[in-house]
Amino acid sequence: MELTYNDFKKRALDGELSKWEKIGFPDSYRKGIEKLIFKDIAFKLGLESNSVKRILDIGCGCSDLVNNILTFCEKFDKTLTLVDSKEMLNIIPPNLKSNNKGVELVPGKFPNTKILYENTNKLYDAIIVYSVIQYPFIEMSIYHFINKCLELLNDNGKVLIGDIPNVSTRNRFIKSKDGISFQRNNITFAKNVEIQHSDEERIDDAVVLSILQRFRNFGFETYLLPQPEGLPFANRREDILIIKR
Ligand SMILES: C[S@@+](CC[C@H](N)C(=O)[O-])C[C@H]1O[C@@H](n2cnc3c(N)ncnc32)[C@H](O)[C@@H]1O
Repeated sequence: MELTYNDFKKRALDGELSKWEKIGFPDSYRKGIEKLIFKDIAFKLGLESNSVKRILDIGCGCSDLVNNILTFCEKFDKTLTLVDSKEMLNIIPPNLKSNNKGVELVPGKFPNTKILYENTNKLYDAIIVYSVIQYPFIEMSIYHFINKCLELLNDNGKVLIGDIPNVSTRNRFIKSKDGISFQRNNITFAKNVEIQHSDEERIDDAVVLSILQRFRNFGFETYLLPQPEGLPFANRREDILIIKR
């Protein structure tokens, strides 16, 4: 069974787990690599651009990825809103949260986070939803979740739905020559994060392609992007970029 929002809360409170295990990854998948992940996110969303002033990270977690985002926003004077459970937000190092006066913490399960919708002057130029979409996929309508993200965008704003575990992409990779040798040398999952999925719980090509099509029909531009080599899931995950016209 896939992890739920409440499972992540419990993991956040479990003192036995590393900061990567708390967000559902073995250390080997993320430790020392999150700078590269951030670089890819920043490139795809154009975060360094002067036109990007307000950034929202939904399901920010508690590892070095969110720490990198906080440090970047402080350095480049961007306003940053972080959404995740109170338990998860509590783990982020206090000095990183308090250094930047532009940081806002919104505890709660998106999109039941009313505060985000209360002030239409506070829309966002870039929204990060990284390694998250598979959880709302089980718990609510994924289209509703994405719709609620898009409601928070300024014109020309972008949403990156990143690190999508598309089982069709994974299966194509596994059947390839590279996939066969990868499996031979496969790193075994750490005990703390091994999860069995049923097919109904998995995102596949049908889901990914329907997202691209559906939001184009609503007037957005949508793109399917690969991940660069060197990222932990580059061979079997992909990203969706949605741009508001
Ligand atoms: C796999 S972790 C990814 C964390 C971070 N984005 C990263 O890539 O390092 C998934 C995170 O999404 C959060 N999450 C899941 N569903 C959520 C929801 N509906 N609203 C807010 N956060 C959610 C979990 O609490 C968890 O921290």
